[in-house]
Amino acid sequence: MNNPEDLLKAARQAADKAHCPYSNFHVGAAVRCTDGTVVTGSNVENASFGLTICAERVALFSCVAQGLQPLELAVSCVDAQSDASPGSRMPCGACRQVMQELMLQQATIHIDGVGSRRLSELLPDAFELGSAEKAP
Ligand code: THU
Repeated sequence: MNNPEDLLKAARQAADKAHCPYSNFHVGAAVRCTDGTVVTGSNVENASFGLTICAERVALFSCVAQGLQPLELAVSCVDAQSDASPGSRMPCGACRQVMQELMLQQATIHIDGVGSRRLSELLPDAFELGSAEKAP
């Protein structure tokens, strides 16, 4: 696994851009793409709560929109309490499913304050549509 510190730093900085007036829980994500580009995202909440989108998905969808292939992702829940369980820093299930769609199974996910995991560890036995083509 690569040294994740630069990607984690970018994720922490991206958390400053979060729009989270309802939870006040700032999250940042940074994705390194195959061409070396780093794409960041933050969580964007909505008064209609179900429309909220997580930082990881903002970053990953932005990669796709720019024609880039995500390789490695870092996420930072900068407002997680230091004495909270590791779960308060982990990517949610929806984001794991999106990672499954857009990243390789062996892709590394760096979780600030927790450590690094393979996508296959975060989402074993993932759902896939057999006939669908995955991202290149
Ligand atoms: N959130 C993320 O951005 N990523 C996750 O993986 C988990 C949760 C955001 C969504 C919401 O804005 C706030 O954290 C509280 O759930």
